[in-house]
Amino acid sequence: MKAPIGILGGSGLYRMAGLALERTELVQTPFGDPSGPVHLGTLDGAPVAFLARHGEGHRFTPTEVPYRANLWALKFLGVERLVSVSAVGSLQARHRPGDLRLARQFVDRTKLRQDSFFGGGLVAHVGFAEPTCPHLSEALMAAGRRLGLPLEDGATYVCMEGPAFSTRAESRLHQSWGADLIGMTQVTEAKLAREAELCYACIALVTDYDAWREGEEAVDAASVLEVMQANVDKAQALLRATVPDLVGAPRPCACGEALKAALFTAPEHVS
Ligand code: ADE
Repeated sequence: MKAPIGILGGSGLYRMAGLALERTELVQTPFGDPSGPVHLGTLDGAPVAFLARHGEGHRFTPTEVPYRANLWALKFLGVERLVSVSAVGSLQARHRPGDLRLARQFVDRTKLRQDSFFGGGLVAHVGFAEPTCPHLSEALMAAGRRLGLPLEDGATYVCMEGPAFSTRAESRLHQSWGADLIGMTQVTEAKLAREAELCYACIALVTDYDAWREGEEAVDAASVLEVMQANVDKAQALLRATVPDLVGAPRPCACGEALKAALFTAPEHVS
């Protein structure tokens, strides 16, 4: 069974109405094992593939997540469109805990991860000016509007290495850049999704105000988990309202041709 739509998120996302899991696949990839088995099934009849990025039981830090194996496994199972869900901190007062945002731009502050399938003799530079799929993001926005969810488009997401949260100085610096959200995973997935020619959209669930707010406790892991659990139903409702309409829909974006103008390693460049 091919699953043209993939969902990457926390393990809590699986327990959702309308989702019938049918089997699991432990895919072996040239980049090692993925975070865990990919769950294949249907969401209101639409074939989907689910993968928990931090592994079952949350075993991988954001640095340790085997991003390349995860993206490779999803592509291998037929995924063409990938929706990623994750918790984020807010860098601006108007993004409140419990809100959903679509991240559309990234600032990459990671430093310890493999974020490309290329190298080792094969060079390519994919375009990344628009790192997410406009069509998939608009499909999510349309569903969010229909449901009246607290969802906004167009957020800029700073991706830090972690696993420690930011210092206050870092948090205020990121805020002063005008960025909206901070998290630890999405830019790496977005880069690999582009290289794999997948459509990629990023649902960010705001859980905290990071560390910049005067007179407020800085973020901690327990509160992130608590707010995530209390609001995961919104992300699930959004997925449920979006995914079935995408089955068989054409991809009117350029995501599926990202490598066309990107490959450098070719006979004409050998001197
Ligand atoms: N994930 C959720 N909240 C976060 C924060 N404040 N910083 C980085 N990642 C997060």
